[in-house]
Amino acid sequence: MKDRILKWFDILQFPTEWKTATIEAINTFDLAEIEKQEKPYSWLLEQENKIKGMLYALYKCEDFFDQGIKKGIPEEILVATLQEIRRHSQNYNRATKGEKIGLRQIKWAEVILSGRLYCLGRLEFEMKTTQKTWENGGITTPGAKVLSVHIPRTGGPLLDEEAEESFKMSKVFFKKYFPDFDYKCYFCHSWLLDPTLKKLLKPDSNIVKFMDRFDIPETHESSAGLGIIFGGDTTYENVLEKTPQTGLQKSAYEHIKNGGKLLEGFGFIEK
Ligand SMILES: CC(C)(COP(=O)(O)OP(=O)(O)OC[C@H]1O[C@@H](n2cnc3c(N)ncnc32)[C@H](O)[C@@H]1OP(=O)(O)O)[C@@H](O)C(=O)NCCC(=O)NCCS
Repeated sequence: MKDRILKWFDILQFPTEWKTATIEAINTFDLAEIEKQEKPYSWLLEQENKIKGMLYALYKCEDFFDQGIKKGIPEEILVATLQEIRRHSQNYNRATKGEKIGLRQIKWAEVILSGRLYCLGRLEFEMKTTQKTWENGGITTPGAKVLSVHIPRTGGPLLDEEAEESFKMSKVFFKKYFPDFDYKCYFCHSWLLDPTLKKLLKPDSNIVKFMDRFDIPETHESSAGLGIIFGGDTTYENVLEKTPQTGLQKSAYEHIKNGGKLLEGFGFIEK
């Protein structure tokens, strides 16, 4: 078990300065306790010590990888997909100002490790079944299969040509490796699909170009974008205490100062 966790720690290039603490944590890590839970990931979510989640996710990488290889999925796609485990562990470390090592987004790790989601170039695509009906031209109904699009925070921009390439890759990938997943369309629920942003960003912005790919039949008010634009702890109550720096921070700051809100949109793209 220890070797398997450390193997994935190295493959996913976890920060080497975490290694000693990780080895110490493995020495008291009770895998059997997690595996006897009916819902291991829900149980881990409740745990105060987030390193248990990180170790469990690293341990499960091997199963995800083996299943992918059996399906013939290229190794580099499998490893790229698993990089989310490292990125989210690093987010947790940053959120705790470097004090803690662990993985708080354990339910997201569950999605990844379940084999329902793959990172294809810049974007991630999750095989999903919708729960809801969209009207006004919405393409889908409850129970429809869709490819849900996610935009990982890699630290890099969302270049239009990279997004285009990812969509192209997804068409080939799901046809080849999941031919029975007969998805109706692409779907995305995100702060990036907020038509308000068109007034706040330049027309050639990557976010605007990404949004323009989608039909957006429905939006709702949300503070999700605030956390992503200004940092995780941001709410409508404290956003005006922030010091805006990027173009988007500056324009969103002014918008909110003038009583405006940000939205999240539900978007669709035909297959
Ligand atoms: C999606 C993402 C890569 C887009 O970044 P981008 O490619 O730089 O986007 P744009 O070209 O539209 O950026 C226009 C301006 O807004 C700024 N901006 C974009 N995203 C920003 C963010 N999350 N926080 C602060 N500023 C941001 C850019 O720095 C740029 O500012 P500038 O005019 O000073 O240069 C970026 O927002 C990101 O990494 N987000 C985290 C992941 C995410 O949101 N996923 C979706 C979850 S539902």
